[in-house]
Amino acid sequence: MMRPMKKIFVLGGTGFVGAHVCEKLIREGWEVTVPTRRRAHAMQIQHLPGLTVLELSVHDEGALASAMAGHDAVVNLVAVLHGDLASFEHVHVALPQKLARACIAAGVSQVVHVSALGADSLQSAKAPSMYLRTKGEGEAVLLQAAVGGSAGAAADKGFDLSILRPSVIFGAEDKFLNLFASLQRVFPVLPLAGAAARFQPVWVGDVAAAVVACLQGVSTQPSPRIIELAGPEVYTLKELVQLSAQLSGVAGGWGRPVLALPTWAGRVQALLMGLMPGEPLMSLDNLDSMKVDNVASGKYPGLASLGIRAAELKPIAQSYLKRP
Ligand SMILES: NC(=O)c1ccc[n+]([C@@H]2O[C@H](COP(=O)([O-])OP(=O)(O)OC[C@H]3O[C@@H](n4cnc5c(N)ncnc54)[C@H](OP(=O)(O)O)[C@@H]3O)[C@@H](O)[C@H]2O)c1
Repeated sequence: MMRPMKKIFVLGGTGFVGAHVCEKLIREGWEVTVPTRRRAHAMQIQHLPGLTVLELSVHDEGALASAMAGHDAVVNLVAVLHGDLASFEHVHVALPQKLARACIAAGVSQVVHVSALGADSLQSAKAPSMYLRTKGEGEAVLLQAAVGGSAGAAADKGFDLSILRPSVIFGAEDKFLNLFASLQRVFPVLPLAGAAARFQPVWVGDVAAAVVACLQGVSTQPSPRIIELAGPEVYTLKELVQLSAQLSGVAGGWGRPVLALPTWAGRVQALLMGLMPGEPLMSLDNLDSMKVDNVASGKYPGLASLGIRAAELKPIAQSYLKRP
């Protein structure tokens, strides 16, 4: 029997994770709408059959609710990694607030919100960085609205909510292993802040599969549910830098010497990088985020609860890092 066609509204569908989510949703035979600040940002996905791109400010609540009308579900992948407190709050807290109200106004009954490991809706104030604090606050806003509590609309019924918390995400277009490999192609030594920080990298294909599984109602956890997305292995940042060299073959696979910076020097480096024009490679806030391990806490179900076996990093990363 054919599964019923669903219409999914994907905020952040033009991004790294978003492109994979959109491809998987289209493969399911569902219709997808992607709002974007600039149509040009949708180059990678606009060819997908059944996908509609809308040039729209997702921060305009009225426009958002109108555009969302007629959709069965919303996926939120919008986030920023750098900026001041006001910009983190605008994107990570005010947007989920508007989104929750817009879902209720538009009658959207299912939301998948991608957060991050280290964000905690129960104790967001304790998080070490603006990124993680505001991610936790955004989760709290949606959790409250999901159970029908105060998104601000009358006769508020709430919605089915899945919050996904990934560790750092790897994949062919990542700005993480690719960046470490590129830096080692250029520099003879790599001074590294936060070298001992621990990560449990998860493959972008698994993250996208988790979004789809939530939309399919695969989880047996009741809503609102929180799911941690992490790969099978834990690495320090230094190990990941070295692995990127090994897998990409930089300097015969040996890579460059990695100089683990002491805390003060790492902070100076991050401060200077954060002040450089354009998108910084690293900011003080990024370094603050690394004060807590980016590994699954085990307090919440993981990929396995969605029937997904987490992919190993090495074979996949080698396939896109290796240059002929
Ligand atoms: N990548 C990772 O390693 C990682 C790790 C943990 C958690 N996550 C989470 O996973 C989600 C997706 O991450 P990603 O790496 O795919 O992000 P991304 O590539 O940076 O994409 C983010 C998207 O958000 C939109 N966006 C950015 N700033 C915006 C703003 N100020 N106002 C409105 N829209 C804005 C952009 O859409 P337009 O430019 O088209 O408007 C873009 O498509 C995020 O919630 C992120 O926090 C990612």
